[in-house]
Amino acid sequence: MFTIGILASGKGTNLQAIIDYIKEENLPIRVGVVISDNEDAFALERARKEGIKAICIPCEKYKTILGKEVEKKYVSILKENKVDLVCLAGFMRVLKTTFIKSFPNRIINIHPSLLPAFPGLEAWKQALEYGVKFTGCTVHFVNEGIDAGPIILQAVVPVLPDDTPETLHKRIQEKEHIIYPLAIKLISEGRVSIVGRKVYIK
Ligand code: GAR
Repeated sequence: MFTIGILASGKGTNLQAIIDYIKEENLPIRVGVVISDNEDAFALERARKEGIKAICIPCEKYKTILGKEVEKKYVSILKENKVDLVCLAGFMRVLKTTFIKSFPNRIINIHPSLLPAFPGLEAWKQALEYGVKFTGCTVHFVNEGIDAGPIILQAVVPVLPDDTPETLHKRIQEKEHIIYPLAIKLISEGRVSIVGRKVYIK
């Protein structure tokens, strides 16, 4: 069984999409643990409802990184749960080198834009304000840069003339819920390899 650990700070719709896809496709993948930095994250409730271990490790508020001790806790819980892959699903903290080195090429993230355009926060708003005609979402490996690791899958979403940040984000999320579970499946099947910045899928 391929075990994934999911880190989420918010609503957890990506977490739910991953859980549902594993069930629908009867995949040999299990969500071993869900960890959040936010005790009010609905993601934790979704996990508990599915009988998945759900843990909150609070961090200092208003900081975008994890403190050293907190980071150790995340790593040790993920290791204790024998996680093969760490999936960031709306996890709003930046991981530092020690965390990344603990899971080499084994941490992935979903980002709501066509990277390398619009890294950082509220990427759908950035796209709308910039005036692009197309945006989308990206699943990528996590490296030390911000939303900068090798790209695994992307999906394109057109920006419509009457889009608001909310309508655009909703349509981007519909695509996220397709490509994120798919990327996890491909990795679990050993079909994804990284050569430099490029990701190849067999
Ligand atoms: C998703 O749109 C994800 O792409 C974004 O947060 C949302 C989480 O939604 N992530 C980032 O912006 C990371 N930079 P969810 O909690 O419903 O899965």
